[in-house]
Amino acid sequence: MYRIMYLSTATVPFSDNELEELLEIARKNNSEKEVTGLLIIKGRTFLQCLEGEKENVLEIFEKIKKDERHDSIIELIEEDEGTRYFPDWSMGYKNINHLDDVKSQKLTDYTNSNNAHKFSSDDISEIFKEFVEIS
Ligand SMILES: Cc1cc2nc3c(=O)[nH]c(=O)nc-3n(C[C@H](O)[C@H](O)[C@H](O)COP(=O)(O)O)c2cc1C
Repeated sequence: MYRIMYLSTATVPFSDNELEELLEIARKNNSEKEVTGLLIIKGRTFLQCLEGEKENVLEIFEKIKKDERHDSIIELIEEDEGTRYFPDWSMGYKNINHLDDVKSQKLTDYTNSNNAHKFSSDDISEIFKEFVEIS
């Protein structure tokens, strides 16, 4: 299973409706390509995991990278092993704006860090798991 995780920063504020539309398109496209994953949003920061067949994940990620609604993309993980973390979600979504604790701070720290590439795959999947359990 091929997996990419990245961080990015929204260039424009997203309204609830715009986010809904983004997710609707993402879920439709991802289902067609059997890509699954999770999108976490905190303020202007996005943290996304995309997983599936390598060719399909890369095809979708290429589109995402060109999207001018976000920039400063930091690729955290690219790996081709293991099983899906989110087999049931064509694109799960967590808005963690309401969280103001250690866990959401971690995401901000990642974004502000120049050392993001030093985090291990385990660190990052741990973070995802924490967020998934929060809701
Ligand atoms: C943070 C972020 C995450 C996105 N995630 C996905 C995604 O998982 N799948 C997807 O198809 N598009 C995603 N998009 C939207 C793509 O950038 C692009 O607008 C969309 O794939 C175009 O779809 P279309 O070719 O069907 O018009 C995302 C955009 C942003 C800003």
